Amino acid sequence: MARILVTGASGLLGINLAQETMTAHEIVAVDRGKLVNAPYKVLKKDLLDSGAVDSILDSARPEWLINCAALANLEACEDNPGLARRLNTDLPAQMAKACKTRDIPFVHISTDAVFDGRLNSFYKEEDEPNPLGVYAQTKLDGERAVLAENPNAIVTRVNFYGWSLTGRRSLAEFFFHNLTYNKSMSGFTDVKFCPMLANDTARVLIKMLNKGLSGLYHLVGPQAMSKYQFGVEIARKFSLREGEISPKSINTSSLSARRSNNLCLSINKLSTDLGESLPQFSTGLDEFYTQHQQGYPQKIRSYAQD
Ligand SMILES: NC(=O)c1ccc[n+]([C@@H]2O[C@H](COP(=O)([O-])OP(=O)(O)OC[C@H]3O[C@@H](n4cnc5c(N)ncnc54)[C@H](OP(=O)(O)O)[C@@H]3O)[C@@H](O)[C@H]2O)c1
Repeated sequence: MARILVTGASGLLGINLAQETMTAHEIVAVDRGKLVNAPYKVLKKDLLDSGAVDSILDSARPEWLINCAALANLEACEDNPGLARRLNTDLPAQMAKACKTRDIPFVHISTDAVFDGRLNSFYKEEDEPNPLGVYAQTKLDGERAVLAENPNAIVTRVNFYGWSLTGRRSLAEFFFHNLTYNKSMSGFTDVKFCPMLANDTARVLIKMLNKGLSGLYHLVGPQAMSKYQFGVEIARKFSLREGEISPKSINTSSLSARRSNNLCLSINKLSTDLGESLPQFSTGLDEFYTQHQQGYPQKIRSYAQD
């Protein structure tokens, strides 16, 4: 059992990571005030406050730090580039340094969005990134700053889905809720990605820490699909009407931040270094369905209620 400090614990990855690991490990979550009823210790802190990183590390004394805090909304990053830089670049660099000083293994979460999408194949860790917007640029700068400060850190480029604290954070929830209420929606046919259930992401992160890995790794699902196909998979799993999802091109969307249309990452390096394959998309989707049947979404949401 390790004491794990999880920052960004109210976010989509953070909440599922804490939930997934809390039985085998001691979780100390850092949150700005949303988690009022969580079954693990919560430190209330704004990570951008002066001295916040040192103070949480000194009070929690974790054996591992996993940083899931970020400004992860692409439009918000375009609107607030200064805040995006502070959260996505400067804060992780500060954490990397503070963990190095204290000899605490550090995991920083990055993104599959650092590439421009022009490659017609799966991106490898050594491929040259070319960020298309403020989010991707500040995340790439964060990766580089973390590894410059602390070469022993783990930096993972991820993509995940799951049930969230608000019920509205993930693409899977978007499809599930619209399908449930028979509302028509569209799904991009020309954006490909490799989704992984957040609980699988959490389990792999723990394996990486246990194995003592360091450096940059791609950590996504092994199966590539379009966002439209992903919606169809959700519809089929829950026996909902896939015909409500209209295929659409991202070129016709009103989203303001530029996006890559190839987010597919090769996971060869990680599966080789772990000595095992990463979880299949179908097993993750089965678990997402079972979680729903067993009341997992309500349980997660109850952590934000008195
Ligand atoms: N979702 C995806 O599929 C995806 C894809 C690629 C990469 N990623 C990366 O994965 C990581 C986790 O993403 P996510 O989707 O879980 O993000 P998220 O749901 O937007 O959560 C972000 C978290 O950061 C916290 N945070 C923001 N500013 C803070 C501050 N000043 N002090 C303390 N906490 C603060 C938020 O707290 P509040 O709730 O208080 O705002 C929230 O808990 C990020 O690094 C993201 O870039 C995500």
